[in-house]
Amino acid sequence: MEQRDQWGSRVGFVLATIGSAVGLGNIWRFAYMAYENGGGAFLFPYIFALLTAGIPLLLLEMGFGFFTRTSAPSAFRKVGKKFEWIGWWSVLVAFTVTVYYIVIIAWSLLFVFKSFNLGWTTNPETYFFGEFLQFSGSAFNLGGVQWPIFFALIAIWAINYTIIAGGVQKGIEKASKIFMPLLAGMLLIIVFRGITLPGSMEGIRAFLTPDFSRIFDLGIWIDAYGQIFFTLSLGFGIMIAYSSYLPKKSDVIKNGIIAAFADAAFSIITGIGVFGVLGYMAVEQGVGIADVATSGIGLAFIAFPQAINLLPALPQLFGLIFFLSLTVAGLSSSVSLIESVVSSLIDNFSLSRKKAVTIVSIVGFLMGLPMVTQGGLAILDIFDHFVNIFGLLTVGFVEMLVLSYAFDLDKIKDNMNPSSDLQVGPTWKAMVKFVSPVLIGIGLIQNVISEFATVYGGYPLAEVITFGWLAVALVLLVAIYLGKKERTV
Ligand code: ALA
Repeated sequence: MEQRDQWGSRVGFVLATIGSAVGLGNIWRFAYMAYENGGGAFLFPYIFALLTAGIPLLLLEMGFGFFTRTSAPSAFRKVGKKFEWIGWWSVLVAFTVTVYYIVIIAWSLLFVFKSFNLGWTTNPETYFFGEFLQFSGSAFNLGGVQWPIFFALIAIWAINYTIIAGGVQKGIEKASKIFMPLLAGMLLIIVFRGITLPGSMEGIRAFLTPDFSRIFDLGIWIDAYGQIFFTLSLGFGIMIAYSSYLPKKSDVIKNGIIAAFADAAFSIITGIGVFGVLGYMAVEQGVGIADVATSGIGLAFIAFPQAINLLPALPQLFGLIFFLSLTVAGLSSSVSLIESVVSSLIDNFSLSRKKAVTIVSIVGFLMGLPMVTQGGLAILDIFDHFVNIFGLLTVGFVEMLVLSYAFDLDKIKDNMNPSSDLQVGPTWKAMVKFVSPVLIGIGLIQNVISEFATVYGGYPLAEVITFGWLAVALVLLVAIYLGKKERTV
């Protein structure tokens, strides 16, 4: 077996962790989640979810990886063979998310090139669904492959392959040291542009003004918890794998807290930029901020090009920066999603890193092919919804219960406290053992009920069953199967 990789420096680890956290989730997903949930109404549940579940679970996963010094499946095997499947479950969830996540990065990359001549035309909505995706409207009607997206998909997989094959220190760490400062610089430009446009305050006010009248709307809460899990890369086995590469005397707790707050800051600051631009667009078009854009998956690819078209100066440059930042943010996260899978293959099947990343890249690429067809958007949308709720949110919920009740939180705590400046104690344990599981548990039950009451996204039931329910069931079954198999390593 190859010698286990290790981070080269603390900065490298923190940047890679922030790189994993800051991704499409902060720009593409956060913006549409906040927009769909009425802007300011979303911010309070989001911050509440960060403090009650996000940070406690992040520290739990990091502490668990630091304690077991191995990736998720073998880490859970150390708790008991009967729990190994939970590790596989998180790894497979990471893999399924990777498959569609990379398709969205591929779109972003193509939009970088479209910025040069504002190639999304004066009607970006018609362009996106029509010319760009040639969307058939149905997950069962695949039609032809969209060749530009197909080739962009190959390019994005190739970049990921190259970085991950380079190893933890020479690949992921090195790439993070380039990606993260670049991303921060680009986002600052976006925000500066966003807040200096006439009318931007309109949008920013909509984003930042809390709306406590919607506090009892359970839908907002599940969205906020789902968003926190997604954005902090929780329930994917990523943080377990990343922390398993830490040298023995590392400050896990402070690193984790820095990463969590940096991630939240990225989201909120980008939100200010995005809503500033939306505010400008609302004023230009003489409509309210709530009516300015389509929500959902298309926000970044429709509303943003619309706004960019209206910019008074250098719209091409602004478009380029926006879509390049989406691409870079996506890449630094996709690398971590894939690494979760790759590290598990290395740890459990004694594969070399090169072999593991080759297998994952080829299978992932092939599985992404239906999503670059004309029905791809529907598959991707249904997948995203189900994998998030019945994937990472449920995995995180189960992880907290198993590590609290079948393992001993004190072992994790006593292993990370001595080498950390900040300490975790009773509050952290209470969050992990009771508060978070209860809140997420209520949200999950409520969600299952609403899932049965209305079919997601207005799609035909058969499509939602196939790409939603069956997909999450398959992920779970494969995880249970892998967990049952005897291992020799
Ligand atoms: N944490 C990554 C994101 O937010 C997956 O996109």
